[in-house]
Amino acid sequence: MPRILVIGSGGREHALLHALAQSPRKPELLCAPGNAGTELLAENIPVAADDIEGILRLAKDRAVDMVVIGPEVPLVLGLADRLNEAGVAAIGPSAAAAQLEGSKAFAKDFMARHAVPTAASQTFELDDVDEAKAYLAKHALPIVLKADGLAAGKGVIIAVSQEEAEAGLIALFDGAFGGAGARVVIEEFMQGEEASVFVLTDGRDYILLATAQDHKRIGEGDTGPNTGGMGAYAPASIVTDELMASIEEQIIRPVLEGMAEEGHPYRGILYVGLMITSVGPKVVEFNCRFGDPETQVVLPLLETDLLDVFEAMVEERIAGIDIRLKDGAASCVVLASEGYPGSYEKGKEINGFDEASKHAIVFHAGTKKDGDRIVTNGGRVLGITGLGEGLQEALNNAYVAADAIHFGGKTLRRDIGQKGLSHLNPV
Ligand code: AMP
Ligand code: GLY
Repeated sequence: MPRILVIGSGGREHALLHALAQSPRKPELLCAPGNAGTELLAENIPVAADDIEGILRLAKDRAVDMVVIGPEVPLVLGLADRLNEAGVAAIGPSAAAAQLEGSKAFAKDFMARHAVPTAASQTFELDDVDEAKAYLAKHALPIVLKADGLAAGKGVIIAVSQEEAEAGLIALFDGAFGGAGARVVIEEFMQGEEASVFVLTDGRDYILLATAQDHKRIGEGDTGPNTGGMGAYAPASIVTDELMASIEEQIIRPVLEGMAEEGHPYRGILYVGLMITSVGPKVVEFNCRFGDPETQVVLPLLETDLLDVFEAMVEERIAGIDIRLKDGAASCVVLASEGYPGSYEKGKEINGFDEASKHAIVFHAGTKKDGDRIVTNGGRVLGITGLGEGLQEALNNAYVAADAIHFGGKTLRRDIGQKGLSHLNPV
């Protein structure tokens, strides 16, 4: 019986465990550190996701066969490299390959080297503040400023005036975003609709897993600050077969070939964040891992055994895997704590799980057990995934279940999936 350790504590990790638990081979599941939902499927072990030495010790002490790395921080810190050196299979790219997410400047330079369509941009060092200001003055508004390093989704400023752009530049250079501001990328604002494509690759071949659309802003109608993601649905109806063919040809193949040519073949999950513009798909960002909440809609549609898929990735035979997805759609509505993505309270009792589970899958994110109760323990608390023959039915199921859950300060968006419906039923 394979023993699998999943790293992380969000809805994504609960969804990974939920999919692995369905394998007919009944793997033994561990999770570090996990949440109140992962505890229902796996043994939670209190080792933090960025404690590289702690995870290595855990993997060896418990003779783990495979480690599935959920979040980006341990990947950028080299967890996959360290596990591989220790002879433990890891799902996730090397630190060198994870730079595609870990450094926006690396990603932009890499795309320029391989002619991958993306927003025009320039990268500035702290010493170049005056040049950066001159660049801002010369370019059209709105304009986008990005901190170079990992910033948990908070290092991006879309400035609509010169004043805002200059203030944003200073804020990013001041390290306002967790010290990630030593370099700033300034890029053209792309008009269009966003979609994500998930690619599984073993370093030699790749397969397309699925498409999804996230809802990044806290407010309905895509207003207010960016969050980790307030809901998602799959498949992303904007990505037609024809569009997918050009995404593969112009983006996915050159990226994977380019990474291999440059000596750091990409192995793992590549999340390609796209803007579908009037002149075709362009890259907004890469992530070196599954998305959260996108995983909560993609994996419930997967019919192929996820354990088989992961083993094929490790054994460099991904090309032979037949990825089967259910017909129909999935949608996930995130229930957050009031105040998120700013400050919020924790420790609110959550009720309604039994009723909600009649209509949808309840994935835990920021939750923990407190005696017999389950209480809130983070900004994003639960992800409620509804399935259906079509997107509308999936949304109905997700919202009925979301309404059955109660906790103090429960916050959600009521407009998840609306853009998807508009592509399916054009007016
Ligand atoms: P990122 O962290 O690079 O994904 O940026 C966060 C969000 O900011 C994206 O999901 C987009 O909604 C928005 N964004 C980033 N870059 C651009 C751009 N060049 N044009 C328009 N929107 C962008
Ligand atoms: N939902 C966006 C992300 O996982 O980065």
